[in-house]
Amino acid sequence: MSDAGKRAAGRAAAELVEPGMRIGYGTGSTVEHFLVALAGRGIDVAGVPTSEGTARRCAELGLPLLRPDEVAELDLVVDGADELTRDLALTKGGGRALLREKVVAGMTRRLVVIATPGKVVARLGDSFPMPVEVIPFAAAPVRRALEADGFVVEVRNHGDGRDVETDNGNVLLDARLPGGIGDPAAVEARVELMPGVVACGLFTDLAHEALLGDEDGSVTELRVG
Ligand code: 5RP
Repeated sequence: MSDAGKRAAGRAAAELVEPGMRIGYGTGSTVEHFLVALAGRGIDVAGVPTSEGTARRCAELGLPLLRPDEVAELDLVVDGADELTRDLALTKGGGRALLREKVVAGMTRRLVVIATPGKVVARLGDSFPMPVEVIPFAAAPVRRALEADGFVVEVRNHGDGRDVETDNGNVLLDARLPGGIGDPAAVEARVELMPGVVACGLFTDLAHEALLGDEDGSVTELRVG
C-alpha cells in the first residue's frame, strides 16, 4: 500500500497551523508527513515533541522545539492513532510514545488525529492490542491484573528476547481483549489506577477531530458531537 493516504492527512493537518502557534508534534509515520509539510510552509511555529524520535526529526527539519515547562497551553496537537472509533476514542502507543503523547494531548484544547480510514473500528481492540506503559518493577503484577480482567497480555519485545524500552525507561504490555473493548473510558480509568501503570494506550475524551486521508488524496473529517 502506498503512503498517499497518510500524506494527505499529514498535509491537511499542516494547513491548520497558523503563524505563532505553539503546538504538539505527535509520533509515527503519519506524523512524519505532517512534519515535512509543516516544515515546508516555513512559518513561525514551535512545539513540544511526543518522543525522542520526533524531537530528532524536528531538529533535522528545522522545526523549533519547546519543553513542556516552557508553555502553559498548546494551540493545537497533531498526532496519529493505531485505531479510532467514530466518536474519537483512540488506541495509541504502537510507536512506543503513548505516555508523552498523553501528556502533550493534555496540554491542548484541540487534538487533531491524522490517520487512514482503515484504522476506524466499531470497537477499540478489534484490530490492535491496548498498549500499557508500566515501570519495569510492576510489569509482572500489572500483567496478572490485566489477565484477571480477561486480557491476553504480551510484553512487547524486539523478537530477540530483549524487551522494548520506552523513552521513559519503561516496558510495554500489549493487552488484547477477546471481542474488543466495550467501554474504553471505564477500561482506561481502571488500568491507569493499577499501581505501576504510567499510561494506558486508550485515549478517551481527548481527541476533538480526525482527518482521514484516503489513497486518492481526499481527506474526510470526523468531529466529536
Ligand atoms: C505512537 C503512536 C502513533 O501515533 C501510532 O502508532 C500511529 O502511527 P502511524 O502513523 O505510524 O501508523 O501512537 O506511539
